Amino acid sequence: MFLHFIFCIFVQCDVKPQELKPNNIFLLAGQSNMAGRGGVYNDTKTNLLEWDGQVPPQCTSTPNILTLYLNQTWGIASEPLHKEIDNSKTCGVGPGMPFSNQILAKRPNFGVIGLVPCAVGGTKIEEWQKGTILYNQLVGRAKVARESTSGNIGALLWYQGESDCGEQDSMLYKGRLEKFFNDVRQDLQSPDLPIILVVISAGEGNFLRNVRDAQLNINLKNVVRVDAMGLTLLPDHLHLDTKSAVSIGQELADSFLNNFGQ
Ligand SMILES: *[C@@H]1O[C@H](CO)[C@@H](O)[C@H](O)[C@H]1NC(C)=O
Ligand SMILES: *[C@@H]1O[C@H](CO)[C@@H](O)[C@H](O)[C@H]1NC(C)=O
Repeated sequence: MFLHFIFCIFVQCDVKPQELKPNNIFLLAGQSNMAGRGGVYNDTKTNLLEWDGQVPPQCTSTPNILTLYLNQTWGIASEPLHKEIDNSKTCGVGPGMPFSNQILAKRPNFGVIGLVPCAVGGTKIEEWQKGTILYNQLVGRAKVARESTSGNIGALLWYQGESDCGEQDSMLYKGRLEKFFNDVRQDLQSPDLPIILVVISAGEGNFLRNVRDAQLNINLKNVVRVDAMGLTLLPDHLHLDTKSAVSIGQELADSFLNNFGQ
């Protein structure tokens, strides 16, 4: 210990990532477009989905953007941000890193951002209702994140609904989403928790319109939205490409700063 101290007087010792703590926590939840599929392509030789490994400058890692690993320690965040959480799928670039870089670009004194990735591809809103595995994981990780820092939770970023575009599910979507938001706020004892919702632009099923209407008509305090309509998609017509993941991430950041950034 003493020798280590002496040593560090002469050599600037690196701070270990797991000793880093964020000031501002953001919860990222939903399905594949929050997890990130930018740059994921079908390798025709292997018939497997692969990530192209391209990280645009807006998604660069910095010591001011941390992520909560599955093992509940903090480390420097990097793409693909959801690789540990959405680990049965091939993850690529998503909105989390460009969101963070945009906030830091616009507010250099914002402090260290702590991202809490929780999104899992292909999940329906029913799988996020109170008591489910995904719900418990989200609330559990949010509490760990909050307790391990002095920081509060800046916002929940929510991008989901593509799997609820069937007739029945789309009609039940608004009620299920409102209940989910209310339950999360109650269980985090954060009744005013800011929530930024992405209004989806694509879905599996013929009732995208119903899900969009539900998302546009949620009427809860401190819920604001950004619209993904018009963003470019991968050839699967479902997932945002890298450029679009960057732009929705930046829109989420602008929305956060405009609505909740004081
Ligand atoms: C990749 O494309 C081939 C040919 O279109 C298809 O058969 C295969 O299921 C695709 N693989 C994935 C993982 O989507
Ligand atoms: C936690 O997980 C991260 C990422 O996999 C790893 O780098 C780190 O060493 C782990 N830390 C502990 C204490 O297990």
